[in-house]
Amino acid sequence: MNPLKIQDNTFRDGHQSIYATRMRTEDMIPIAEEMDSCGFHAMEVWGGATFDTMHRFLAEDPWMRPKILKKYITKTPFAMLIRGQNLVGYRHYADDVVRAFVDKACEIGIDIFRCFDALNDFRNMESCAERIKANGKQFQGAFCYSLTDVCMGGEIYNLEYFVKKAKELEQMGADAICIKDMSGILSPFDAYDLVSAIKKEIKVPLHLHSHYTSGMASMTYLKAIEAGIDVVDTCLAPFALRTSMPAIEPIVAALRGTERETGIDLHKLLELGEHLEKIAPKYSSHLATHKLSIIDNGVLAHQVPGGMISNLTGQLKEMNALDKLGEIYMEVAETRKDMGSPPLVTPVSQIIGAQAVLNVLFGRYVRVSNQLKDLVLGLYGKTPMPIDAELTKKILKNYKRGQEPVSGRPADYLEPEIEAAKKKIGDLARNDEDVLAYILYPTTMEKFLRSKYGIDSPKSAGVENIPKKKVAA
Ligand code: CO
Repeated sequence: MNPLKIQDNTFRDGHQSIYATRMRTEDMIPIAEEMDSCGFHAMEVWGGATFDTMHRFLAEDPWMRPKILKKYITKTPFAMLIRGQNLVGYRHYADDVVRAFVDKACEIGIDIFRCFDALNDFRNMESCAERIKANGKQFQGAFCYSLTDVCMGGEIYNLEYFVKKAKELEQMGADAICIKDMSGILSPFDAYDLVSAIKKEIKVPLHLHSHYTSGMASMTYLKAIEAGIDVVDTCLAPFALRTSMPAIEPIVAALRGTERETGIDLHKLLELGEHLEKIAPKYSSHLATHKLSIIDNGVLAHQVPGGMISNLTGQLKEMNALDKLGEIYMEVAETRKDMGSPPLVTPVSQIIGAQAVLNVLFGRYVRVSNQLKDLVLGLYGKTPMPIDAELTKKILKNYKRGQEPVSGRPADYLEPEIEAAKKKIGDLARNDEDVLAYILYPTTMEKFLRSKYGIDSPKSAGVENIPKKKVAA
């Protein structure tokens, strides 16, 4: 027997993927103890979008969620997704911030840190990894799965590339390795080859994280299970499928009587699902309703992740240029190629998407965002392929941060940030958590802190609606 282990992502990626990350802590509490008794390998409860949305829209202090849930969930380890040097924000932070953030996250109850970098440049994970290990927690190294063709292969994202990435992570001291397929483009047979090849080369457990977006993920999981994957990520049915993860229930049922049987009680899952059916309707306004299909066939063709598509559509609406969407899809592919074909994941996906819009509206690289200039300058790390020298020159012309690309570890170019931030926020921040959150989200966190400490009413902090019930800490 080799039971498949399950990481439950209902409380993080599940509602992030289909309910715009709006699930409130008060709606997690009623099922928290029951979830704890299911026998999940881990429960993912925290990450970038959670941190952002909680203070921006839900009037909840982001640090509180793991602390509150830990009172109800005592056996199952807590996992979080952390964007390496980006932590839970959208830019690279200096090492002092990274160290303080990881220490704090350990203190509030995170046990497993799934750490990734948008460019698969693992130098951006070194500071995180060092602190995670120093705190005696689990460092799970993830690489982003990406493609430049319809399936695995070609000159960049081939089997050798991913095996090499897995080995690099193991050498960095990863306690487990994760294949992060954020766009749901890993096909079943590629998954079989990929998992088989990596399992041969590494000793630590291997995780698969995939999204249902293209409709392939359940099949992909099954082939990965055949190839010996140790852990897969799922959500309870009401928070699964669409652009979220595969649902757990069919997987548990499908594996009964096999050597990969999970040992998880299906009836318990059904009861939990029933409960979620009662609370999910209040979030259903966030479900995408523009079409009937719950899978995105387009992603099979153009590989642009769903989140990126909604960002692009929003941006175009604002600029009154929605009719350019088709052109922009093509330009995204071209811009990505120009930028060394990085994986399309936060924050690089936003940078490339925004630049593709500028390229279509104003001419190619006539207007260039500072973030794209930073990417070309090397401040996000090493791109999978080099960027053309002529294009580099054009983009960096007169750029105040530098005109010659750099090749060192990106964080080595950053000055410490904490002391300056403390001075800037002053008395409004009453503890380290406030200061760190302010560094991550200066504008919205300042508003949040003003309402948290009763200076302004919660309404002025821009929260969507005030929670009826206050959740005790
Ligand atoms: Co995900």
